[in-house]
Amino acid sequence: MDRLLFVDDEPFVLRALKRTFELEGFEVVTAQRPADALELLQKGPGFVVIGSDYRMPEMNGAEFLQRARELAPQSYRLLISAVEEFHAAVDSINRGEIYRFVPKPWDRDDLLTIVRGAVDDYHLRRNYQEMTALLHSKNAELSTLNKNLEQKVVERTHDLIEALVTALDGRGAEAVHSRKVAAFSMRLGRELSLPDPELTILEQAALIHDVGKIAIPDSILRKTGNLTPDEWVEMKRHPELGYRMLANIPFLEQARRLVLTHHERLDGKGYPLGLAGDQLPLSARILHVCEAYESMTGGRSFRASRPPPEVREELARCAGTQFDPAVVSAFVRLAAEWEEIGRAAVPAPPPEQSLANLKASFLASR
Ligand SMILES: [Fe+2]
Ligand SMILES: [Fe+2]
Repeated sequence: MDRLLFVDDEPFVLRALKRTFELEGFEVVTAQRPADALELLQKGPGFVVIGSDYRMPEMNGAEFLQRARELAPQSYRLLISAVEEFHAAVDSINRGEIYRFVPKPWDRDDLLTIVRGAVDDYHLRRNYQEMTALLHSKNAELSTLNKNLEQKVVERTHDLIEALVTALDGRGAEAVHSRKVAAFSMRLGRELSLPDPELTILEQAALIHDVGKIAIPDSILRKTGNLTPDEWVEMKRHPELGYRMLANIPFLEQARRLVLTHHERLDGKGYPLGLAGDQLPLSARILHVCEAYESMTGGRSFRASRPPPEVREELARCAGTQFDPAVVSAFVRLAAEWEEIGRAAVPAPPPEQSLANLKASFLASR
């Protein structure tokens, strides 16, 4: 039941107000002294409307309503007073402390309309505040949920990439190559001010850029010595094979595009698409330089490794044709760092678990 509080030093006024509003279904509390009313408000709000006389012995109505506003800001305040005191009340009205001035003697219907209006406004405002608070708390819950989901996607992506790198490693020494290319790409990407989200994608792509080699036959992948032209054709399919392999993994879509283009050259003579210049995003141009550097310095089954200074010279020589000159000059500028970055990128190999150990841990985890 909505509660109303009336303050007036005249008991008959309070009786009239009580009778009028109780008949309308309100709970009515009255006080002859403003101090008593303030004490009630101090104990807790809960009054929808507070009505006060103006001229009272201990405290005038404007002052009382001002204090009432501090104690119960949600309540709607009425000054119910003689018409000649209207001017004294104007200031309070202007300060926003009073919802309405009700002249005495009041018209019953007018007073009821004013109080009902205040009660409706009170409930509307309360509902609005409750809905807003609910909305805020739901939004907070949702954003926590989203953060957790994003974190899960990051973890799953990491796990998946690790699995792919491990699978690739099973086919040769590609994991070392991938991890080094990823570390080089990150350093070079930072040097070239690549934004963080693109750095993340570049790292993912670098780790799995050669994943398509999983589908290349051992006879080619592990061949020592030169590949025949036909074998080269087969080997050069790996960017496309990797791209196709990674289809339907939405959170690797961007990385997948870099997998496809990691052997594209600035002059359009790369493979498999023959893209050139601006058709290649900066990330692809960075990946291409890092990949080439690691391949040449790390060597391959079919090619001996070459000393880093010689490879840097080779990169500089091919800047503007195979490689983006800006990317190469950044790479050369950081020459002193590459060896350490490459070394730090390769984790110590995990201890080999015997089949007997595997069986024991398998059975223990049932
Ligand atoms: Fe590679
Ligand atoms: Fe490759």
